[in-house]
Amino acid sequence: MTMDDYAACYSLWASTEGMVLSDSDSREEIARYLARNPGCSFVCARGDELLGTLLAGHDGRRGFLYHVAVATDRRGQGIGGELVKRGLAKLRAEGIAKCHLFVLAGNELGRGFWSRSGWEERNGILLFSSDT
Ligand SMILES: CC(C)(COP(=O)(O)OP(=O)(O)OC[C@H]1O[C@@H](n2cnc3c(N)ncnc32)[C@H](O)[C@@H]1OP(=O)(O)O)[C@@H](O)C(=O)NCCC(=O)NCCS
Repeated sequence: MTMDDYAACYSLWASTEGMVLSDSDSREEIARYLARNPGCSFVCARGDELLGTLLAGHDGRRGFLYHVAVATDRRGQGIGGELVKRGLAKLRAEGIAKCHLFVLAGNELGRGFWSRSGWEERNGILLFSSDT
């Protein structure tokens, strides 16, 4: 993914169920994210049509995936799985051994995908957030 893909990505994210957008999805913040994690995020496109996205990055210790999304009419063709595979391969190449991601409670589609893809659903962890 490059910033040339941003507009199409944002419009896919905005129309994807189970995905919450925030200030961190602005053009400036996504540009900073891509610059900080070069080569980790991917899109799947055919011609001008954007089919899927994956944001991936790490903090030097653990990897994190965000915004795994595939256009509704292109699901079930292996696109999501392939995007994740590529993101993980890049994180692994950077020496990152473990990766986490967040799924909104109630997103059963996402939950099913991650479980089917071999990801372990973690219990006993609470997420706390604060403004800096
Ligand atoms: C989740 C999502 C990205 C999956 O994309 P996709 O391209 O349809 O997934 P794939 O075709 O690559 O599927 C990979 C594997 O997961 C399985 N799978 C996909 N969605 C599944 C689901 N909801 N439940 C169970 N298994 C699922 C597929 O059958 C496939 O299994 P296989 O490798 O044994 O054949 C897509 O449904 C989507 O964009 N959902 C909305 C956004 C979202 O919820 N993102 C994740 C939240 S963090």
